[in-house]
Amino acid sequence: MRAVTWQGKRDVRVEQVPDPAIKEPTDAIVRVTTTNICGSDLHLYEPLGAFMAPGDILGHEAMGVVEEVGSDVRGLAAGDRVVIPFQISCGDCYMCAAKLYSQCETTQVKEHGTGAALFGYSKLYGEVPGGQAEFLRVPLAGFTHIKVPDGPSDERFVYLSDVLPTAWQAVEYAAIPDGGTVLVLGLGPIGDMACRIAGHRGARVLASDLVPERLQRAAARGVTVLDLREHEKDLGDAVRELTDGRGADSVIDAVGLEAHGSPIPKLMQTLTGLLPDAVAQPLMQRVSVDRLAALYTAIDAVRRGGTISLSGVYGGAADPLPMQVMFDKQIQLRMGQANVKRWVEAIMPLLVDDDVLGVDHFATHRLPLEDAPRAYEMFQKKQDGAIKIVMHP
Ligand SMILES: NC(=O)c1ccc[n+]([C@@H]2O[C@H](COP(=O)([O-])OP(=O)(O)OC[C@H]3O[C@@H](n4cnc5c(N)ncnc54)[C@H](O)[C@@H]3O)[C@@H](O)[C@H]2O)c1
Ligand SMILES: [Zn+2]
Ligand SMILES: [Zn+2]
Repeated sequence: MRAVTWQGKRDVRVEQVPDPAIKEPTDAIVRVTTTNICGSDLHLYEPLGAFMAPGDILGHEAMGVVEEVGSDVRGLAAGDRVVIPFQISCGDCYMCAAKLYSQCETTQVKEHGTGAALFGYSKLYGEVPGGQAEFLRVPLAGFTHIKVPDGPSDERFVYLSDVLPTAWQAVEYAAIPDGGTVLVLGLGPIGDMACRIAGHRGARVLASDLVPERLQRAAARGVTVLDLREHEKDLGDAVRELTDGRGADSVIDAVGLEAHGSPIPKLMQTLTGLLPDAVAQPLMQRVSVDRLAALYTAIDAVRRGGTISLSGVYGGAADPLPMQVMFDKQIQLRMGQANVKRWVEAIMPLLVDDDVLGVDHFATHRLPLEDAPRAYEMFQKKQDGAIKIVMHP
């Protein structure tokens, strides 16, 4: 089959690889019909490359049609239309019972001390072949799937793999009080969708980014946008001005470790990127390689007693945080990979009858899988208005 493979820093290629086959009786094979590129893939494309091996198949936002199921898979059959969550979870361990599916104890990657295994997401998360390919092997397939109805196009449902539940969890964890204000940092797919969900649920939404078309897209849906290029030094003040001098009740960080405006960690990311993996890996697990500009903004812009919800991915082991300010302001901090299936029931009604969140027009680019190298470059450099790229194998 054809698959998008990681080959090196900023080097992905579409290659011919062996078709996946059922290995365990709990596996299924899915023929992928739509598969997206995510902001999380950009971390592998560059700063977290030390944890990838040449040939690894990328991708964790796939949907398609079940081709074949193993003998122990219940409730799923060839021909079913499914979206595959980005994490692999069993559905019946202690963590899954608590609906913390991204912490599943059956698939936790104990060797690296990390949570549930993820598709296409480096050694740190199990080195499982990903979904930017013609076919995907789905482990623990009896639970690791979301059945979707026939009828609407793939784009109505494909974001259930990641963007929708991640943005939904970001809003839940932000604990926005009734009639309150949320500030969303970053207007990539996650931040944009978090704005839509928070607005739908009645919050007043402020948001910041530095990419003009991303700001425009949010503004067009009623979000009050603050252009980071104008507010690089005073975003917190600008937010306080809009919130009776207090700051936002809640802040969602949808930026993560590659934030603009963090020169020293950017240098660290560049330097570790130049080192051989054997040297870079232990170093990256000990020093600060995160660019923390967005998180610092969140800490400044949230009101006293407010909540910060991090969905942007961080990976540093020694990130300096202003504990005095955080303690004094009584900040509540919640974070983590989205527990995908936990939120599906709440989201589905917004997809089936009508397109409440505007998912049908969410993608800016629809490309054949063969165009993946160009698509990654375009998404990373934010060229050609690229906000969300979906690919068809
Ligand atoms: N928690 C989860 O389960 C989960 C799931 C998916 C994605 N993510 C993470 O969410 C983050 C966003 O993902 P995405 O797909 O939207 O990616 P993206 O890279 O398209 O979006 C990030 C946006 O942040 C903006 N930005 C950069 N620095 C900023 C700053 N200092 N202030 C405000 N905005 C800034 C960028 O211009 C960009 O538009 C990534 O870190 C990704 O890894 C987490
Ligand atoms: Zn994703
Ligand atoms: Zn489990």
